[in-house]
Amino acid sequence: MNDTNYGLLQSQLAALLKDETDALANAANFVALLYNAMDDVNWLGIYVLRGKELVLGPFQGLPACVRIELGKGVCGMAAASGKSLRVPDVHAFPGHIVCDAASRSELVIPLVIGGQLVGVLDIDSPLLDRFSEADQARIEAVCADYCDLVSKSGFI
Ligand code: SME
Repeated sequence: MNDTNYGLLQSQLAALLKDETDALANAANFVALLYNAMDDVNWLGIYVLRGKELVLGPFQGLPACVRIELGKGVCGMAAASGKSLRVPDVHAFPGHIVCDAASRSELVIPLVIGGQLVGVLDIDSPLLDRFSEADQARIEAVCADYCDLVSKSGFI
């Protein structure tokens, strides 16, 4: 199944975040909302850019690796390039970092506020090739909304 109503999700996100200024609460609600709106996802969360590494932030799923160097793994490569990475088969991706052995495909989207990379959103699926190009475009739009909504009060 792959029938997320992204329009509804974007309205719900705006409603949840628009009057709240606590960065941690907003990040936690963002990942919880998105995780519960998507089928076939076993892990979804934020890695926050801290200096030259990514540090684990709010997430849904099993406990995960806490620190990822820029340029390492799917997350670190997406962060270093500033471009989304859609990996249809994580076993075929050189340098993939295993956190949950159930993960088979992965989508990582850079989070950018005011032109600056602040972190990435990482989504893992137990299905091969779970994320389509259309999913990527819609989730990029959701991430852009999130970054815009928190741009005044601040990221985590
Ligand atoms: N697979 C990621 C690591 C993070 S976990 O999937 C939660 C990567 O290769 O960067």
